[in-house]
Amino acid sequence: MQLIKRRPFDPTGGCFLAQACYARLMPAAPSRLTPPSSPSRSTALKICLAFFLIAAAPIKTASADGTLPIWREIFARPPTGISQIPAPPDNPLTREKIRLGQTLFADTRLSGAGNRSCATCHDADRDYTDGRARAKPIDGKTRLANTPTLFNLAWAGRFFWDGRANSLEEQAPFPIEHPQEMAGSWGAILSRLSADRALDEQLRKAFPHNPEPTKANIVAALASFERSLVSPLTRFDEFVSGKTASLSRLEQQGFALFVGKAGCVSCHSGWRFTDDRLHRTGLSRQAMKTPTLRGLSSTAPFMHDGSRNSIREVIAHYAGLPQDDPTLSPNLIRPMQLSAYDTMALIAFIKSIDERSP
Ligand code: HEC
Ligand code: HEC
Repeated sequence: MQLIKRRPFDPTGGCFLAQACYARLMPAAPSRLTPPSSPSRSTALKICLAFFLIAAAPIKTASADGTLPIWREIFARPPTGISQIPAPPDNPLTREKIRLGQTLFADTRLSGAGNRSCATCHDADRDYTDGRARAKPIDGKTRLANTPTLFNLAWAGRFFWDGRANSLEEQAPFPIEHPQEMAGSWGAILSRLSADRALDEQLRKAFPHNPEPTKANIVAALASFERSLVSPLTRFDEFVSGKTASLSRLEQQGFALFVGKAGCVSCHSGWRFTDDRLHRTGLSRQAMKTPTLRGLSSTAPFMHDGSRNSIREVIAHYAGLPQDDPTLSPNLIRPMQLSAYDTMALIAFIKSIDERSP
């Protein structure tokens, strides 16, 4: 016999659009952290309004239903020049720090055995991932997570799949000290680096007032380099900036599904395609940070455990979620009722997010 559990009182009356709005305005899955950069209330209200318009008039393509101007605002890229990239007041972004950070990012002296760097796992040619389901541990058997891309993290509010770091400065020492990632120790690292003249020159330029190879300077430079990693402009960005024809009809239908019936936008929203919140999507009992959908053409396998090899497999996972599982995020629309054609359109759209404009 199947037991149907009653859900707690639901102020949205079960309407999934209202639920998506509600979830947008209310804190998502309980987390140990307060959401540091949750979208502004006005963005949340715009998303609600767009949902409402969609509810009022079922859509065929995003451009045909009148909501497009609102979505264009929600998905607009911010300016990404070096002076416009957000950085904390105590670590302002400079070209010199970015350059030093780039050098250190590939420097194997930051690891215990001198054979690993950040770039070992975050490979620029794969949009800063490693092509593996899970990152390769030093001992060959410890289970690490899937390596995420490092794109657009200057705008992110929390870091790691479980959101346990609050800034890039706080994040950087983790992989350096992690016994299965780089197994570095600061004493050894600092003495190796202080013997390096070329690095000394770079340190002087990056930190003119305090050019020592300290842990704080190394971390500040790594964080600065990471802030400079902005995903390239794509056909989707052109579409958002006004060139509707930059997406094919099929891709536009996929976009309409993404922001409509499939409900993806309730978590993957904004130009980075993430709300920076933690959600339970049925893969793990622990809530995970919504990953960006930028860079997907080179960042497979997907999900925190690398368990899905393609966008199609990810969508099949969402579509196959149990109907009545109260542990799942309320943002997940179940059942999504995607036809084979819908799935094709959704995949085509998601691919367009990453297709560099010619
Ligand atoms: C052994 C492979 C490996 C190495 C080496 C490595 N990383 Fe990572 N990186 C990962 C994995 C795996 C995760 C996800 C871990 C998690 O969330 O628990 C991650 C997560 C991150 C994140 C969080 C991204 C996000 O979206 O939340 C940042 C930032 C990062 N790494 C930067 C670095 C830097 C800087 C270095 C070098 C100091 C480095 N990594 C070295 C594998 C690696
Ligand atoms: C409840 C919030 C939520 C909704 C709704 C949602 N996602 Fe996700 N998405 C996530 C989270 C969280 C993850 C990471 C899950 C994990 O790794 O355990 C994820 C992972 C993904 C990934 C893998 C990205 C990567 O780099 O690993 C893709 C692709 C994706 N989602 C697409 C979609 C699509 C398409 C939809 C709509 C059908 C959708 N998502 C709806 C929160 C959501």
